Amino acid sequence: MIHFQHIQSYLKTFFQENSYSRTFVLVDENTKKYTYPVIKNVLPDKHFLIQIKSGEEYKNIETCSQIWQQLTRRQADRQALLINLGGGVIGDMGGFCAATYKRGMAFVQIPTTLLAQTDAATGGKLGVDFQGLKNQIGVFRQPEAIFVDTAFLQTLPLQEMRSGFAEVIKHCLIADAAMWQKISRLDLEQQNWNELVPHSIAIKENITRQDPEEKGLRKVLNFGHTLGHAIESFCLSQPKRKVLHGEAIAAGMLCETWLSVRKTGLSESHLHQMEEFIFSCFGRIKIKSEEINEIARLTLQDKKNTNGIVQCVLLEEMGKPLINQAITLREIKSALKFYLG
Ligand SMILES: NC(=O)c1ccc[n+]([C@@H]2O[C@H](COP(=O)([O-])OP(=O)(O)OC[C@H]3O[C@@H](n4cnc5c(N)ncnc54)[C@H](O)[C@@H]3O)[C@@H](O)[C@H]2O)c1
Ligand SMILES: [Zn+2]
Repeated sequence: MIHFQHIQSYLKTFFQENSYSRTFVLVDENTKKYTYPVIKNVLPDKHFLIQIKSGEEYKNIETCSQIWQQLTRRQADRQALLINLGGGVIGDMGGFCAATYKRGMAFVQIPTTLLAQTDAATGGKLGVDFQGLKNQIGVFRQPEAIFVDTAFLQTLPLQEMRSGFAEVIKHCLIADAAMWQKISRLDLEQQNWNELVPHSIAIKENITRQDPEEKGLRKVLNFGHTLGHAIESFCLSQPKRKVLHGEAIAAGMLCETWLSVRKTGLSESHLHQMEEFIFSCFGRIKIKSEEINEIARLTLQDKKNTNGIVQCVLLEEMGKPLINQAITLREIKSALKFYLG
């Protein structure tokens, strides 16, 4: 069940209708400061905070171990509840800890970043990174409820807003061409989040409900991610080249739109529109031409590939994705060259 806005009143009702032996709230230093005060007075009087450090580098088994220790120390049983209050890192890792603690305790998601609200909190994918590989260890499981309130976005840094916006754009490109036309006429600051956040959630929910374990249809959500992940991994492996997930995905979407014109008949005018919009909103990630080969090779690592062939999502039209499109390394390199300008 997803509740939108009015978080205090929905949470109040939730705790009137459900009773738990103990309530735990997982936060990092930012969500403790900015978002916990908003919900504190509607939580059960006796609840326990579990605080971890913010950042993807802490999304690992060591941090899970700290969370499980706290739950054990405070005698959480299977009737206890864990509230994951934060971005995608808190949601993925807290959900994973809850799903595995004593074979599963109840948890709810309260996503507080644009990326977590529009993407990470729905779909039931939970997990942590392992040995440098993203989301290598994890499970599928649904929370008791998801509470989304755009008021939390007021304290979110601009770069984080931009990162989340990439997934909003992706949802429009794969499912709603009219909404893409609407958002592409506005800057980031002008977007109407009260309309766009539930719009994105509805698209992701609809897709993941039909294909919860990514056997087919759900792959459309990977649009932009084949090249985007390669760019992200490459930049993260370099000193001082930090890019956020969404920034890399925006670049990936532009490259995959270029490939769509070549391979699946998307019209060139859509590519020009995308190009203008992505560069004006996200800028151009600095990549040197001699780095293209290495980035292209990284696409071979993608989880979606089969038999060493790179499989990608391309667009037939705006709003109409095609899954399992085989692309060659040469095509990938050409797309990256186009991106470099
Ligand atoms: N499960 C899925 O389907 C799915 C989908 C997409 C992404 N993800 C995962 O999501 C993670 C990225 O999530 P993210 O972008 O939310 O990053 P994040 O969780 O690291 O949050 C970004 C930063 O914003 C801070 N923050 C959170 N809420 C805030 C608020 N309201 N005000 C001020 N600061 C706030 C956090 O402390 C952190 O520093 C990745 O680990 C990714 O793998 C999962
Ligand atoms: Zn993504």
